[in-house]
Amino acid sequence: MEYLFHRGEKIPLIGFGTYRLDGSMKSEELRTLSYGIDEYGMSLIDTAEMYGDGISEKILSGIIRKYDRSRLFIVDKILPCNAEKGLYTECCKRSLERLGTDHIDLYLLHWKGNVDMQDMVDNMEQLAKSGMIRHWGVSNFDTHEMEALFACSNGPNCFCDQILYNLVDRGAEYDLIPWCIDHDVLTMAYSPLCNSHNSRIAVTSDEAVKRIAQKEQKTPESLMLSFVIRERKTVTVFKTSSILHLNNNMKNVFEPAGADDITELEKRYPPPAEKYPLKKI
Ligand SMILES: NC(=O)c1ccc[n+]([C@@H]2O[C@H](COP(=O)([O-])OP(=O)(O)OC[C@H]3O[C@@H](n4cnc5c(N)ncnc54)[C@H](OP(=O)(O)O)[C@@H]3O)[C@@H](O)[C@H]2O)c1
Repeated sequence: MEYLFHRGEKIPLIGFGTYRLDGSMKSEELRTLSYGIDEYGMSLIDTAEMYGDGISEKILSGIIRKYDRSRLFIVDKILPCNAEKGLYTECCKRSLERLGTDHIDLYLLHWKGNVDMQDMVDNMEQLAKSGMIRHWGVSNFDTHEMEALFACSNGPNCFCDQILYNLVDRGAEYDLIPWCIDHDVLTMAYSPLCNSHNSRIAVTSDEAVKRIAQKEQKTPESLMLSFVIRERKTVTVFKTSSILHLNNNMKNVFEPAGADDITELEKRYPPPAEKYPLKKI
């Protein structure tokens, strides 16, 4: 594993997502997570109270129980509808119970919704003081929302913005990722493999992608992941419940792609030429 050092934390460049980890193949899901931690050091794991209405957190408890807690970096999220009602402590407590742990490493507001920013910051700071969470952050915040957050008292304590970012959806490169870098906010890319079957296949079956991947001794999926982390300024989380897929995705993933191959890839999947509103899933 390679790491990014951010505000005193050592964060794996690549971790696990758990959206749609629903327990339908619980033993395979747990085996894959353990394998990823043991073989690749994927100790960054992202979940949310929303995922399966708490089921993903419950599955994760099987991992948290097995490992030295200090080795794992657990990211969890509160829903805006609960934040709007001020249920920060209650939701965090319930997540901790489902996870079977006494702290969350990074607690995010899942998306902006109608949540009052200063109230959110105050509540997150309170949770951090209580020790229930170690850091707090946001998800799906575009640049103007980050600016509004930073105008709040203690807003600059925001550790991370978790955003949609992959080879195809590169809108965040225009000004959001640079803003986050300038303001010492970690960007964590979600859906690095394009989330849905059809979108992923559109990329992985692209002849140009296949050719470049082969030349780089990567798979199309590991090329996609490698692209997202290419500058070592963004970390990412992908989901898989298959050891076969995991090995495929991690093949030579940290080997930087050659400049000519990146240029060719960028011809196919160009960077944004103008500002688009941040895409969300
Ligand atoms: N903050 C937010 O609003 C937000 C939104 C979306 C996602 N997220 C987080 O980001 C994580 C990752 O994003 P994501 O789950 O949306 O999408 P993703 O990681 O881009 O793609 C996951 C999908 O790709 C499949 N897959 C992975 N490797 C594969 C391979 N080698 N061959 C074929 N299929 C493969 C997985 O199925 P298999 O299990 O069969 O491999 C799964 O269906 C989520 O799990 C979640 O934790 C956050």
